Amino acid sequence: MIILNTKKDFINHINFLKSKGEIISLVPTMGNLHKGHLSLVEIAKKKSSKVITTIFVNPLQFGKDEDFDSYPRTMKQDISNLNKINCDVLFAPKNKNEVFNNIENLKNLKSGPKGNILCGENRPGHFDGVLKVVYTLFQLTYPDLSVFGLKDFQQLYLIKQMAKIHFPKLKIIAAPTIRDKNGLALSSRNSYLDKTSIKVAPMFYKILLDGINNLKISNNVEEAVKYITANLEKNNFIVNYVSFLTLELEKLKLDNPERKILLSSVKLGQTRLIDNIEFI
Ligand code: PAJ
Repeated sequence: MIILNTKKDFINHINFLKSKGEIISLVPTMGNLHKGHLSLVEIAKKKSSKVITTIFVNPLQFGKDEDFDSYPRTMKQDISNLNKINCDVLFAPKNKNEVFNNIENLKNLKSGPKGNILCGENRPGHFDGVLKVVYTLFQLTYPDLSVFGLKDFQQLYLIKQMAKIHFPKLKIIAAPTIRDKNGLALSSRNSYLDKTSIKVAPMFYKILLDGINNLKISNNVEEAVKYITANLEKNNFIVNYVSFLTLELEKLKLDNPERKILLSSVKLGQTRLIDNIEFI
């Protein structure tokens, strides 16, 4: 795997790949790679001739009281994992100036109303920060396709929306959520969970699954949200939100046979967990 740490080297290498007619895929990450991240690389490999993974802990998407400083950074281990699955290129900018040399140019890039609900309501500015880094990476790379996880459903939705406007030729691919055997969605933040919390955390997914059954029986969204919230609180989760929406992140009409999604974010101790489940 070729490892590049500066924008200049990265752009040179991209130009070289393009001159050879390679089909390029991009997998943006913040590192501390687990099987969820690696599954995106595997999907990208099947659909392109060169896979580029990026590792960059993006300061713009962290609030000032959030975990930017403590976010797990495990570059050696990440490189070894990417090598094992034959990723072609790693772009790991050595500092933020290698990514953002003119943030002013990005000031009009906003996630809009759907970036201010759900996770955006708890984390003001978070999705604007995500879009700024993803936009910049797209602009450096102009990949043919880019893969993102359904685990971060709202993020994926907003990236698709942004790409449609600014990178109309780019194909955004949605990858399924990889879970532990016990159902817990893999996440870099799971490493913050202590011994007690790691036993409780899998209940999150189970309670959401049970909540979907509750909705199917009660046919009452408000009742189902109350039921799920009460169950989560009983198990020591602090609920940020529980929301049933359409896949366009709009209010549900239950009589409509379209696919639906249950999205939730909770805190367990100091650790933020998010998850979602699509259903009919
Ligand atoms: P990060 O949390 O590192 O996630 C990188 C990618 O991996 C995202 O597309 C995310 O949805 C996906 N992912 C995470 N956990 C997953 C799981 N259990 N199964 C499948 N995919 C999973 O998301 C970000 O970084 C950042 O916001 C980023 C897009 C890189 C911008 O900074």
